[in-house]
Amino acid sequence: MKIIGTGSAHPKCAVTNEMLEKFLDTSDEWITERTGIKERCVISSEKLEDMAALAANRALENAGLTAADIDFIICSNVVNEYVTPALSCIIQGMIGATCPTVDINAACAGFVFAMDMAEDKLKCNKAKNILIVCAEEPSRMVSWENRSTCVLFGDGAGAAVVTQGDDLKAIRLTTSSLTEVLYYQRHLEPTPYIDKPEEFEPLVMKGREVFKHAVTNSCRDIRKLLNETGLEATDIKYYVLHQANRRIIDSIRNFLGVEEERVPHNVERYGNISSAALPALLDELNRAGKLQKGDKLVFSAFGAGFTTAACVIEWGI
Ligand code: COA
Repeated sequence: MKIIGTGSAHPKCAVTNEMLEKFLDTSDEWITERTGIKERCVISSEKLEDMAALAANRALENAGLTAADIDFIICSNVVNEYVTPALSCIIQGMIGATCPTVDINAACAGFVFAMDMAEDKLKCNKAKNILIVCAEEPSRMVSWENRSTCVLFGDGAGAAVVTQGDDLKAIRLTTSSLTEVLYYQRHLEPTPYIDKPEEFEPLVMKGREVFKHAVTNSCRDIRKLLNETGLEATDIKYYVLHQANRRIIDSIRNFLGVEEERVPHNVERYGNISSAALPALLDELNRAGKLQKGDKLVFSAFGAGFTTAACVIEWGI
């Protein structure tokens, strides 16, 4: 697998901490100190699929390909307006592709899970070019009356075009069924036969437990990958980490003992945009000209499930 193009798109409505102070018992000081987030872009008039298609088209353009060159689309998404059809089907039509598509849900770790699936398809020659689109609107999962959760999230999309190559050096995926620490139970239509209690509530999160799992598991994943590839922490140009919380990012950086420059972040501008965080940050680095051929990158993310996923990539373009 080799990444040959990246793209991203964010909603136009930027909600600052000061704007949240107007209707929540919170403060810019609390949010900044505990999370590092200063603002997040939240869907208002846009539809998620519009952002997904925009990110996808930008990635295609960056790769120098058209939708006709794509053999498979993998869309990572937790929630959107449609339960069916899959978001990937909607994106396929919007960008004018004709290939098969599938949606996956590995929560915030979805981008790396999608890369793993893509690698398998490319390796056995079932596809030459694959489009990965991560599109997320967690702002629609939280209660905007709950200061513990709504301040943390934003919406957005990130995309990457991958092709056959040898740039994926090692990858590691994990799932542990820790369903009670982070979940969102969807409302389903009633039937005349349902006689079990059903509760529908906005996103539930045990913040401290999630924090602990995130740091412990991400550090373990990265350490294992470095050992497996024989790389030192300082051989990695950038650690592209899940953008959930600046304190989590800093804890992982401290564990690795690397300088700040190696751990880029944009959580302060976008909040946690779930699986779109990694490809969106990668796209920023790519478009800023910060990636050189041969650079070693680590991607690492964690999410509800509990899922974790990490990989080592050698940048090849
Ligand atoms: N503004 C002001 N106060 C707030 C607040 C807010 N937005 N949100 C919570 N608080 C309050 C709590 O009510 C609590 O008050 P109390 O002591 O009177 O009960 C206090 O702040 C401390 O809450 P706590 O939850 O213990 O804070 P924390 O230091 O653990 O920070 C998180 C909370 C959510 C920022 C932190 O736990 C975290 O980042 N967890 C990981 C979340 C994550 O990454 N989720 C996504 C996974 S993909």
